[in-house]
Amino acid sequence: MRHFITTQDWSRAEIEALLSDARALKSEPWQPLLRGKSIALVFFNNSLRTRTSFELGMQQLGGHAIVLEPGKSAWPLEFEFGTAMDGRAEEHIAEAARVLSRYCDLLAVRAFPEFVDWSLDRKDRVIRAFAEYATVPVINMETITHPCQELAHAMTLQERLGTDLRGRKYVLTWTYHPKGLNTAVANSALLIATKLGMDVTLLCPEPAFILDERYIDGARQNAREHGGSLAISHDIERSYEGADVVYAKSWGALPYFGRWEQEKPIRDRYKHFIVDEAKMARTNNALFGHCLPCRRNVKVTDAVIDSPRSMVIDEAENRLHVQKSLMHHLLKPPGAAT
Ligand code: CP
Repeated sequence: MRHFITTQDWSRAEIEALLSDARALKSEPWQPLLRGKSIALVFFNNSLRTRTSFELGMQQLGGHAIVLEPGKSAWPLEFEFGTAMDGRAEEHIAEAARVLSRYCDLLAVRAFPEFVDWSLDRKDRVIRAFAEYATVPVINMETITHPCQELAHAMTLQERLGTDLRGRKYVLTWTYHPKGLNTAVANSALLIATKLGMDVTLLCPEPAFILDERYIDGARQNAREHGGSLAISHDIERSYEGADVVYAKSWGALPYFGRWEQEKPIRDRYKHFIVDEAKMARTNNALFGHCLPCRRNVKVTDAVIDSPRSMVIDEAENRLHVQKSLMHHLLKPPGAAT
């Protein structure tokens, strides 16, 4: 049984196979490939794109999706072991994951960090517990990485630039946001861009905003394997120079994780990291990307996000196609043709 928790567990060839089938599903969306199958979509956090695209995707393949929100419409869950459950949680993951596996063919989980202690959140405890107890494949709908977004991003880049992305200059730029956000999409952008063999620059205001070493190391390993590179820069002008892709995301500085009031005066110094026309003019007519939702005129100007080089809407649409391909792959008998 195969889970989809991080793309680091999937080879480049396997990712390419997912993307190839996603392209076929984009041209012919309604195919009864998962007739009679079901997926439980477990959301601990809000969503617009992920929920809509998974629900519709399963329907378009002939299956059924059920949304569960622990603590809202479903029982609050306990993840500690050996503890007396005398708090808010009514149900333990050990039962919940196994019961859902008896009903459904797939489980998908969105569980953001708790934003108190990064050393705990980086264990990805919630989805790892689902994977441990589930007896069906588990899909990550965003925890401390966002691998479904990675697939959509890869598909969109290949649509715009061709399937061979080696030699393309890719800039992941930190942008301002009033809050310290999850690093998941930024971690994921590094992983997939290096897996696709691009020359990647992580642009962030100062060393405190460098991502967790697990993802820096993973990206370096990917770059070695796939012929690209990874650089870290705090120099806006140099980073944008000649870029083919600018992908924007805001995230909280890990050394201040859970102490956001101390981080705030630092991040407030860097509002000029906004993606604007002047910065984009330094690029090689770069594509602009963002996972959405995106605060206009805070992270990116209207002119950039509305320009023909913006791929944000395409990438959001492609979530639908890649996730259909993923669900089909996870449920395909080993060795079966597409
Ligand atoms: N990009 C993304 O995952 O969007 P939602 O948070 O709306 O699902």
